[in-house]
Amino acid sequence: MVRRSWAEPFKIKMVEPLRMTSLGEREAAILDAGFNTFLLKSEDVYIDLLTDSGTSAMSDRQWAGLMLGDEAYAGSVNFYHLEEAVHEFYGFKHVIPTHQGRGAEHILSRMCIKPGDVVLGNMYFTTTKAHQELAGARFIDVICDQAHDSADRSPFKGNVDLAKVEAAIEQFGAGRIAYLCLQCNVNMAGGQPVSMENVRKTSLLCRKHGIRLFLDATRAVENAYFIKVREPAYANRSIAQILRELCSYADGCTCSAKKDALVNIGGFLCVNDDDLADEARNMVVLFEGLHTYGGLAGRDMEAMAIGIRESVEFDHIRARIGQVEYLGRMLDSAGVPIIRPVGGHAVFIDAAAFLPHIPRDQFPAQALAAALYVDSGVRAMERGAVSAGRNADTGEHLFPKLELVRLTIPRRVYTQAHMDVTAESVIELHARARDIIGLRFVYEPKFLRFFQAKFQPMVGERVLRLAPGADRTPAHA
Ligand SMILES: Cc1ncc(COP(=O)(O)O)c(C=O)c1O
Repeated sequence: MVRRSWAEPFKIKMVEPLRMTSLGEREAAILDAGFNTFLLKSEDVYIDLLTDSGTSAMSDRQWAGLMLGDEAYAGSVNFYHLEEAVHEFYGFKHVIPTHQGRGAEHILSRMCIKPGDVVLGNMYFTTTKAHQELAGARFIDVICDQAHDSADRSPFKGNVDLAKVEAAIEQFGAGRIAYLCLQCNVNMAGGQPVSMENVRKTSLLCRKHGIRLFLDATRAVENAYFIKVREPAYANRSIAQILRELCSYADGCTCSAKKDALVNIGGFLCVNDDDLADEARNMVVLFEGLHTYGGLAGRDMEAMAIGIRESVEFDHIRARIGQVEYLGRMLDSAGVPIIRPVGGHAVFIDAAAFLPHIPRDQFPAQALAAALYVDSGVRAMERGAVSAGRNADTGEHLFPKLELVRLTIPRRVYTQAHMDVTAESVIELHARARDIIGLRFVYEPKFLRFFQAKFQPMVGERVLRLAPGADRTPAHA
């Protein structure tokens, strides 16, 4: 068959130059950052795959939308544009803007959780769980077992295990379950989707027991794409139709618009219940800003409204997920251990398998992310024991089954050539994995420790032993 390629459904109108660094400069930068890629200066980074959050390239239409910002304190026209877009594509009754996703999580947790409650979820997300725990809840993971198995190739590894939900109801009683938080395209599981069938069944079970179901809709559009291509009944439905149906099974959602919705800042909370909406509007004034701006400028809400419309276009979402798949395929075919199927927003390297010589309490994923930066200036993120934190009761490190490095792809930002450079560096490091050295904490913050923690190598000052003949002069010449 003749090969027919497709490419990104956009062309580049403006460029942002990147700084090339030498190996010596990168070694100094990572030492200064305490071997934590979060603490690197972005100007020292060549290809920034730290996160897909707030890092999207906005379209010319979104930039034009910024000029239409109505910066009135109350009742900005841009709020109504945003409300209209959320109504149309997500379908919830009440829309409350927040400065980003965690603002919505904070308000939802405060409204719906009493101390001693339990929250069920298909795997935790850091900020979501932190807010649930701050409000007094205990988080119970009800994701299916396949999500914890990096080698399992099931198409919907984000699914809720209904038997685990039933067991939690049996153990705690429905009255103590504040709500079930159903995350779309589960981030910490590798960007793995939930199937429509599973969301429908989870919703039925929750309704039967009077338990509220809230979506974390941060990556619901990416999830909708996977439903379209993997769930035969939805092959002929549009992304917009699938998204609406997905949301129809929930009582509301929290959403970080910094992902699917293609903006650099923003989020929203949606609820269908009128009383809950009243309470949320009272609370948003305290913590975020008036209910018609929620901590955002009018122009931010305009860009978000336009971004939501662009996000559901099939060509956009196919190219976005296609680029992630492209990087995943290159690594997989070179024998690098990654989570398969490749998820929606990132390729996750199984750092425990990549670095079998580094024990879990020397944080192999943290070490691999640091070594990757030293090798090529590519910035990735640890998603393993450092991110998981400590057991609140015993103070021991939590060691989740998955010890991952996340190569997160910003939307509409990098080209296939950037993906090639990234893959080549990971593949070379895999070949010389024994040159990577484990780490220990030298500073550990109390909350969300992965953001600001500092480390040092178990021996010496290098996380990556120099390769013979390594170039220590300005690189990329
Ligand atoms: C699944 C998920 N939920 C919630 C959030 C929090 O959103 P924000 O960073 O906008 O506060 C994120 C951010 O990465 C996320 O990935």
